[in-house]
Amino acid sequence: MQKILTVVGTRPNIIKITRFTHESQKYLSIEHSLLHTGQHYSQNMSDVFFSELQLKQPDFVLKINASTVVSQLVNIMQGIEQTVQSYKPDLMIVVGDVNSTLAAALVANKMNIRLAHLESGLRSFDRSMPEEINRIITDSITDIFFVTEQSGVENLTNENKLPEQIFLVGNTMIDTLVAYDEHIKASPILHNLQLKPASYALMTMHRPGNVDTKEGLLKIIEVIDYLTQRIRLVFPIHPRTFNKIKEFDLQNKLSANKNLILMDPAGYLDFQNLILHSLFVITDSGGIQEETTFRQIPCITLRPNTERPCTVSIGSNTLLNFDLDKIKATVEQIFSNTYKTCAIPPLWDGKATERIFEVLSKL
Ligand code: UD1
Ligand code: UDP
Repeated sequence: MQKILTVVGTRPNIIKITRFTHESQKYLSIEHSLLHTGQHYSQNMSDVFFSELQLKQPDFVLKINASTVVSQLVNIMQGIEQTVQSYKPDLMIVVGDVNSTLAAALVANKMNIRLAHLESGLRSFDRSMPEEINRIITDSITDIFFVTEQSGVENLTNENKLPEQIFLVGNTMIDTLVAYDEHIKASPILHNLQLKPASYALMTMHRPGNVDTKEGLLKIIEVIDYLTQRIRLVFPIHPRTFNKIKEFDLQNKLSANKNLILMDPAGYLDFQNLILHSLFVITDSGGIQEETTFRQIPCITLRPNTERPCTVSIGSNTLLNFDLDKIKATVEQIFSNTYKTCAIPPLWDGKATERIFEVLSKL
């Protein structure tokens, strides 16, 4: 019996492992357990996904009390250490690029547990992003690399990882979209917000580089002011962004805008329904670049780079940073139906988790 412990901590982590329990149960030789670090703890950033996607509750849940990034890492590492001491996994799986990923990877390494990394090999080549450092350190101590797109294979090869360690399996975030498609289409969110399909755009913003300063937030507000002259805009606000808007006392600049629908972070099914029926999405999220590519909905990413280049080269994504003229030109292309054509990347077919557990069953 092989004991596998998967560690999640944040909203995107949870959305990437929704098929793990189901696939692991196909193998008598595998016992799979889930640990939630508590990095994301609000109902609408964590619990909502377990309840609406009917996921088995985590086997282990940490309660962290983190006022700084360092205390967050330390708390998570100590909590995972205790779980590993009692549960004694043979292998740990870490997900994505968040602080919980790094903390769990370090514990695995220090406690001599074999480590697999889901979504490994992605690189923005921008070391000012905390996630890029998390990816580089995690991959430097990973044994088994599960990769979503070809660029990841190339990056890992360039970092001298061996071909037999690298598995291009596709994208487990897309597995979730495929598995819950019927439920996504049944969401009443458009009716609730009194919106018609293709009559609105959808925005999310939460990268520290964009939202942590007053200047950054004012740039976002400038983009919102332009967009809402053209179309209604739905903006579910990430707690980091919400806190920063309050800190810099910018609420008034948003609340007076009649074409802006501000809301709390949405549940997964509502949010995916909003993507599906939007005219376009404007974001700085990692995962949403991939989900819009799968849905072939135009996505404008307000960042200078992406660690997911296939969403630009194959998919529906365009990187624009905060160049308002370019944003206007791209939005006009979308309105006039002359935006680029796009396709779905190889292996983004809803079966990535299945491929992962096939690999794990043969270890
Ligand atoms: C984290 C990840 C980021 C990922 C994002 C997904 C790191 C370094 N960053 O960013 O890569 O894109 O999650 O959403 O790991 N907060 C709440 N409730 C919550 C979670 C957070 O109120 O459930 C607030 C708290 O004030 C917290 C702040 O948001 O201090 C930031 O949370 P944190 O998890 O540190 O980083 P994120 O910005 O969420
Ligand atoms: N998401 C959601 N509700 C929202 C915003 C996002 O369910 O209000 C989902 C989104 O569909 C995707 C994931 O959260 O599956 C992306 O998380 P986020 O943008 O916070 O993180 P990133 O991908 O940038 O790390």
